[in-house]
Amino acid sequence: MAEMAARPRIAIVVGARPNFMKAGPVLHALQAHGGFSVQLVNTGQHYDEKMAGSFLRDLGFPKPDADLGVGSGSHGRQTAQVLAQFEEWLVAHPQEMVLVVGDVNSTVAATLAAVKLAIPVAHVEAGLRSGDRLMPEELNRLATDALSSLLFVTEPAGVVNLKREGARDDRIALVGNTMIDTLQRFRAVALATPRPAGWPQRYALVTLHRPSNVDEEAPLRRILAALEEIASDLPLVWAVHPRTEKRLSDFGLHAAVANHRRIRLVPPQGYVEFMAAMARASLILTDSGGVQEEALVLKVPVVTLRENTERPVTVDCGGNTLAGNDRDRIVVSARTMLARDPAEFRVPENWDGRAAERIVLRIVRFFAEGASL
Ligand code: UD1
Ligand code: UDP
Repeated sequence: MAEMAARPRIAIVVGARPNFMKAGPVLHALQAHGGFSVQLVNTGQHYDEKMAGSFLRDLGFPKPDADLGVGSGSHGRQTAQVLAQFEEWLVAHPQEMVLVVGDVNSTVAATLAAVKLAIPVAHVEAGLRSGDRLMPEELNRLATDALSSLLFVTEPAGVVNLKREGARDDRIALVGNTMIDTLQRFRAVALATPRPAGWPQRYALVTLHRPSNVDEEAPLRRILAALEEIASDLPLVWAVHPRTEKRLSDFGLHAAVANHRRIRLVPPQGYVEFMAAMARASLILTDSGGVQEEALVLKVPVVTLRENTERPVTVDCGGNTLAGNDRDRIVVSARTMLARDPAEFRVPENWDGRAAERIVLRIVRFFAEGASL
């Protein structure tokens, strides 16, 4: 590690859509504390205005200190690009800590670059495990947590997972959920946002982007069949991720969905618009990680189109059920969740909008105790 600066320098790394909501509150809380010099590094894993730029702006980020501009690529290439470029930046701009969030390729790559330079890493959203090593994010989570010095956890299962893997007790902190900090900050403005023209009054909201659902034709067709069946009861609004947009076209399925009378395809939504869309929905069908958590707090029932979830608290609290990508199971799960009373969904402890404050307090103690790797 470079010689300690008067105010410890902390680089916060963002890059893909779900990073911005998780990192924003920590960046703002560190700045408000005043005892740190905070740098923002944007890897550019996501680069479309609707996947990255709008979030930087709408969530009140400063202009990044570095834009690595890595863009899309295979897992190896994308991870390697972040690793090489972030290492170069760190060498030119020494830091006392690197803070990463979530489980995307940028997360693990930035972690590796930092620890190889003997810079401790703090991982926000540590300990989540789906148990599915075919899921690219699971590999990113395992590697990031194994190398991180501070492990900030959102839900109790994360603590259990980290202890089972041998993480040091004093490095684990169950602090709550910074994605929910962001939700609390923007909730009122989202709820005041009018329904977009032409959207149905009552609808189910859909998001899909997991490779296991959209990269092969057979599961995607099964999901489409389920969505068509559900749409006959309840119209759908589907905010289409660019990966999925591409696959629908590759498989020649796009026109049929786009022309469906009761399915409305919309582009990726801005943060506030999407929160408004979630809050107004009767049901959410998704394979997103973050959406499972946000929907629970907004008290909107979720059917998760996956066989597992690294966020079991959302199921335990009553707001989420797993349906895989089998047509009939998705349809039955949708009916089951629509029949539940959202008023009975519980909100996990510490999902109260103050997770970032707890993170800052723990980081302060980390430096007071000597900041070791
Ligand atoms: C990535 C993350 C995933 C996260 C998701 C959030 C990894 C391994 N995956 O998946 O964990 O849940 O982001 O949305 O890190 N594309 C665009 N414009 C963009 C970004 C992507 O058109 O701004 C298209 C490109 O064709 C690209 C494809 O989407 O090849 C996939 O992007 P990529 O970042 O590789 O993975 P995601 O599916 O977005
Ligand atoms: N989101 C958004 N617009 C959309 C879809 C999602 O703002 O059209 C937000 C969502 O509210 C959550 C985050 O993006 O805050 C989740 O990102 P994503 O589903 O891409 O990734 P995951 O959580 O699965 O890693």
